[in-house]
Amino acid sequence: MSRILFFLFIGTLLSAYEPIAPIPLHEQTNMPKAKVGQLLFFDTSLSKDGTISCFSCHNIYEGGADERKLSLGVGGKEGDIHSPSVFNARYNFKQFWNGRAANLHEQAEGPLNNPFEHAMDKESIEKVLNASPSYRKMFQTLYGTNRVRYEDAIDAIVAFEETLTTPNAKFDRYLRGEISLSEAEKHGYMLFKQYGCITCHNGINVGGNSFQKMGTFTPYKSLQTYPDRKAITGKKEHANVFKVPTLRNIALSAPYFHDASAPTLRDAVKLMAHYNLGVKIPDEDIDAIVLFLNTLTGEKPEITEPR
Ligand code: HEC
Ligand code: HEC
Repeated sequence: MSRILFFLFIGTLLSAYEPIAPIPLHEQTNMPKAKVGQLLFFDTSLSKDGTISCFSCHNIYEGGADERKLSLGVGGKEGDIHSPSVFNARYNFKQFWNGRAANLHEQAEGPLNNPFEHAMDKESIEKVLNASPSYRKMFQTLYGTNRVRYEDAIDAIVAFEETLTTPNAKFDRYLRGEISLSEAEKHGYMLFKQYGCITCHNGINVGGNSFQKMGTFTPYKSLQTYPDRKAITGKKEHANVFKVPTLRNIALSAPYFHDASAPTLRDAVKLMAHYNLGVKIPDEDIDAIVLFLNTLTGEKPEITEPR
């Protein structure tokens, strides 16, 4: 009961001011580095069997995530968790579902060294890049070295990821007072606040800024054995706790949840209400919230135009 009161209290507090901030129209980026990072993002030679690139699991022509429930890495091996979007990752307070990487630099090392993903290491990456005269030339221009260094490759990938922001969503334009939302969309936003979704999904990324339990009100049984936050901190209250995912461009990144247990956005909204708010919400409210969530789809950066 006290938890319900707490959520109602926070919900009321947050609806008094604007709890979601628009994505800045212009962000600090280093374009020359980002262009090299883009090549690395698509380069399958940075994987043990030459089949996998970052793009294999992060489709930036769609929502930046993987439309498959679980991604396949080198040798067609299946991972243990659904791939999230790389769009707007720079705004997440931590990276990965369990937040084990503090920033994008730490994050990028993960998949490259993961035996199920790229299955490489520092030496093998440097070997591949130094065997390419064109990479050597590009890195020399950017970093002033005559050998490509692993840490500079990571730096270039991060520079590319920093360009992957999606400003100008309909909702952001509404927040800036440039356009209005339809009555139905506004109603959906109001419900999003009233039900208390906003207590966990707020800020610039409409999420991405706290760890919360999956199953705050109704215990949740994960379909996967992926290590939750408890596996990182050792604290028992962190069982089933994950980074709250961003809801930016959420209409483009089905399926949903760390274990991909929700095939559609409607399912995800319904299950969120059940597990994390302890309520069953009527179908018309689910539809309205989905309409609001659709206004969070932004403009993709030019760098992701198909080449
Ligand atoms: C085989 C599939 C696969 C490949 C290849 C891959 N990723 Fe991922 N990526 C994932 C999965 C799955 C997760 C979630 C893992 C977790 O949270 O523990 C993830 C998480 C991320 C995140 C964190 C997003 C967030 O919200 O926490 C970023 C950023 C990212 N990947 C970027 C990259 C980059 C850059 C590369 C290439 C160097 C790459 N990924 C290669 C599957 C992949
Ligand atoms: C107590 C905090 C909390 C509340 C309240 C909450 N969420 Fe969530 N939300 C989360 C967490 C944590 C996840 C990740 C769960 C997982 O993957 O297992 C999540 C995931 C989601 C996802 C899937 C995102 C993805 O990329 O897979 C959607 C959509 C979503 N929430 C919408 C909502 C809506 C709509 C409401 C209100 C009805 C709501 N949430 C209420 C914490 C919360």
